[in-house]
Amino acid sequence: MIAILGAGAMGRLWAASLPADDPVFIARPGQSPGTPLSYNFLALDGSERTVTVPWLAPSQVPELVLVTTKAGDTLTALEAIAESLPPTVPIVLFQNGLGSQQQVAARWPERPVLAASTTEGANRPSSDRVVHAGAGATWLGPMTAPANAILAECTTALASSGLTVHAESDILGRLWQKLVINAGINPFTALLDCPNGDILHADLFLNHIDGLCEEIATLMEAAGQPRQTPATLRERIETIARNTARNTSSMRSDVQNGRATEVDYINGFLVRLGQSKGIATPVNQMLAERVHQLSLN
Ligand SMILES: NC(=O)c1ccc[n+]([C@@H]2O[C@H](COP(=O)([O-])OP(=O)(O)OC[C@H]3O[C@@H](n4cnc5c(N)ncnc54)[C@H](OP(=O)(O)O)[C@@H]3O)[C@@H](O)[C@H]2O)c1
Repeated sequence: MIAILGAGAMGRLWAASLPADDPVFIARPGQSPGTPLSYNFLALDGSERTVTVPWLAPSQVPELVLVTTKAGDTLTALEAIAESLPPTVPIVLFQNGLGSQQQVAARWPERPVLAASTTEGANRPSSDRVVHAGAGATWLGPMTAPANAILAECTTALASSGLTVHAESDILGRLWQKLVINAGINPFTALLDCPNGDILHADLFLNHIDGLCEEIATLMEAAGQPRQTPATLRERIETIARNTARNTSSMRSDVQNGRATEVDYINGFLVRLGQSKGIATPVNQMLAERVHQLSLN
């Protein structure tokens, strides 16, 4: 049985995709959900079905825990259930950005903690409906030493969903690659309130993208990532923005819906890394501050 902490869009996508008797959701402590959680699931092929997922009972021990909360909720959500979770149960973190994975690994270095980087897309247009919006792939890799030995086993367990899952020994490298894209697209789309492709002609983007890429290239090298030139990073950001031109980023969507964004784990992570390494990050700082102000309005 695979237990899922965070019954949002991503958690419900995995629950709908895993073999029917496998997934359960983990309730918040103090919450005593009676009936199983039911929702309508729209698959990629256009088919719709009702998915019903029970809650983890106190006597049950899952083989695996998937954590699908937002990055800012992850440590608190796990702290609330850690005592009742045997120390050998693998924990797979699905959060975007960087920082929350390191927080969890540093808090429980003796537990098998893995991080996932996924390009699957899911959204929740209403409380009882989840849409699998885009096919992608998921890479899974170890964040703590005890996770190394169970990487293949966890990959096989997640692949039973039918979604594409790969083992990735350098998951930090893969998370960094995604962070570059998120840091270079998401805050601009949120600040300009536009789909991804529209940032490419906006002054805010054109005036700051080179400075942003210089900061990221310097930070990546300081973090031990392979050196990449600012021009290469800019090209990659612009290519993805063009290829996803009509998409709305999660950051823009969070602002539009009055939800907290994950900017603290994207540009905010880069600012904190810069502070710890003595590297100035004025563009990341400006973007993170301005996105914060948007959420306050
Ligand atoms: N959706 C995607 O397509 C996608 C793609 C790639 C990566 N990701 C990443 O996956 C993560 C989850 O994204 P999402 O879109 O699924 O977000 P979401 O829809 O907001 O889901 C997060 C869920 O976690 C729940 N939660 C928060 N604190 C909790 C706690 N202490 N205990 C139990 N549940 C708790 C939330 O409940 P409430 O609603 O009641 O607060 C919500 O249902 C994010 O880091 C995101 O960046 C998502």
